Amino acid sequence: MPIVKTQDLSYLYSTGTPFEIAAIRDVNLEIEQGELVGIIGHTGSGKSTLVQHLNGLLKPTSGKIFVDGLDIWESKQTVRDVRFKVGLCFQYPEYQLFEETVYKDISFGPKNMGLSEDEIDKKVRMAASFVGLKEEHLDKSPFYLSGGEKRRAAIAGVMAMEPKVLILDEPTSGLDPKGRDTILGMIKEYRQDTGSTVLVVSHSMEDVAKMATKVLVMNESKVAMYGTVDEIYSRSDEIIKMGLDVPQITRVFTSLAKCGVNVNPNIYTVNQGKLELAKLFKKA
Ligand SMILES: Nc1ncnc2c1ncn2[C@@H]1O[C@H](COP(=O)(O)OP(=O)(O)O)[C@@H](O)[C@H]1O
Ligand SMILES: [Mg+2]
Repeated sequence: MPIVKTQDLSYLYSTGTPFEIAAIRDVNLEIEQGELVGIIGHTGSGKSTLVQHLNGLLKPTSGKIFVDGLDIWESKQTVRDVRFKVGLCFQYPEYQLFEETVYKDISFGPKNMGLSEDEIDKKVRMAASFVGLKEEHLDKSPFYLSGGEKRRAAIAGVMAMEPKVLILDEPTSGLDPKGRDTILGMIKEYRQDTGSTVLVVSHSMEDVAKMATKVLVMNESKVAMYGTVDEIYSRSDEIIKMGLDVPQITRVFTSLAKCGVNVNPNIYTVNQGKLELAKLFKKA
């Protein structure tokens, strides 16, 4: 049974006004437990609208969402439960840090779950260690953290609820390459260690290639593709036609292959490229 399933899911903003717009249309998706799904697509293609449906933040105009086999809008109880089962971290989540200390901020979610002080403490420390925040950070005001640390503290707040499904909406936007790699590495590790399902909305196909097991491509409010990284990235011509950028390294290898060099054209990360070239030179 898929952990997340949507059935003919559609959502209109500003219904019944001249500004009515279908942000997502007829989305049918099945995501299996334990996958790390990279969600890509243009700005405005419906990525944020889609993920906000999965934890009951937005109510579908039509269609259904199932989490763990349960229709999340079946009752008040199912909708309340889904907020804890599916943890959503918005874009620029650091703007939502508001407590006096980082510790209090991270503990906000688990506290709402009605856990004991001891359990809360355990979860806060576990989440802090996942995002690489140290003991001494926890007693500080979030105000004194660097940009990257603030971002990580905000993500820890969602991880601390130990949701079955963790969703991060553009978790690396606005960070420098080092901050970006730190966050990507930590997301990958979190999924490996906890076995949870993770959905990451991203701008960068290279970032997605580095960590995802599956890729979801949104285009003009619809799901354009869903499959493994290899399945999706081998369709780079279609992706380019949609106006999305395939990784630079993919372009290099596709061009090399077209020029008759004996390389695999389906290369998505610099590391894969390095190994592919090493193979080529060895043969020569
Ligand atoms: N609060 C809103 N009110 C009206 N329209 C919105 C709102 N949020 C998003 N939209 C519109 O819905 C469409 C999908 O947006 P969104 O889900 O934010 O896409 P993405 O995350 O892929 O950039 C866009 O056309 C966007 O302008
Ligand atoms: Mg968005």
